[in-house]
Amino acid sequence: MFKILNRQILFNNWTRLDVRAPEIASRVKAGQFVRVSPEEGGEHIPLTVVDADALKGTISIIVHHIGVTTRQLGGMAIHASLYSVLGPLGMPASIEKKGTVVCLATGIGIAQILPVVRALKKAGNKVVGIIGAKTKRELLVESQMRLACNKIFIALDERSQGHQGLAVDIFKRVMKDENVQRVYTIAPVDVMEEVCSLTRARGIETKVTLNTVMVDGTGMCGSCRLKVGGRTVFTCVEGPEFDSHSVDFRDLRMRMNAPRTTS
Ligand SMILES: Cc1cc2nc3c(=O)[nH]c(=O)nc-3n(C[C@H](O)[C@H](O)[C@H](O)COP(=O)(O)OP(=O)(O)OC[C@H]3O[C@@H](n4cnc5c(N)ncnc54)[C@H](O)[C@@H]3O)c2cc1C
Ligand code: FES
Repeated sequence: MFKILNRQILFNNWTRLDVRAPEIASRVKAGQFVRVSPEEGGEHIPLTVVDADALKGTISIIVHHIGVTTRQLGGMAIHASLYSVLGPLGMPASIEKKGTVVCLATGIGIAQILPVVRALKKAGNKVVGIIGAKTKRELLVESQMRLACNKIFIALDERSQGHQGLAVDIFKRVMKDENVQRVYTIAPVDVMEEVCSLTRARGIETKVTLNTVMVDGTGMCGSCRLKVGGRTVFTCVEGPEFDSHSVDFRDLRMRMNAPRTTS
């Protein structure tokens, strides 16, 4: 059993859980995820490991309550135990010293990109962050991102106070001002596709992290399959990060709308 040692409500429907999982905490790398089930017989869902403390033996996950299992997880009390936490799963993010890198994320993607940002900075990169949400209160882990990035830009919804432009518009400005070597993005498909077409035109390597629907998370069921570079890949074992210029976004859109079946 995986005890919840700390629980923090970040916003209406976002909860952070610090969970005791010593083996995972000692092995997990930036970009990897766990497969979590709150109770016996419950659904298992993929969630990114946002933080890990190998000394304390804890991992942190941030849950956006959008459906049955995420709501159930978000409602769990401190000191309760999760039935199952399996991982670390997936390939770690590509972390190399490149020079200046841009990390663009919106919504839950901000929490997911935080460990990648930290690892990129540790590897010696200048990290420019662009994070977006509807309102300032919905900017997840903003203070941690401010600490982790060398420079940060905030994109809020047009109707929100403090609006400085949409994430993609800010991205265009950053591309002009900085000598960008690589881009990482975790955002809705439309945003990632737009970022990707801008970087393709400039020949800038770009990594996308894909939250496809997953069932077993171990390469057995095929529910997370996608076309990348003209071949079928399983996001859970070969991803979730891919070279965006090889991703078939039409196929991705179709797969993201697919129900959770093994077909
Ligand atoms: C590698 C990976 C890492 C992820 N990391 C996180 C994370 O750190 N925090 C987090 O909150 N979520 C994360 N997700 C998404 C999370 O797994 C889904 O939101 C969750 O499975 C939904 O389960 P549910 O039972 O609450 O929703 P359901 O009741 O199954 O579905 C509710 C609605 O959400 C849609 N939905 C289901 N799965 C997904 C999905 N993967 N992406 C988009 N929409 C979906 C359904 O089509 C439906 O409309 C990640 C997904 C992947 C693949
Ligand atoms: S989730 Fe089953 S193969 Fe990836």
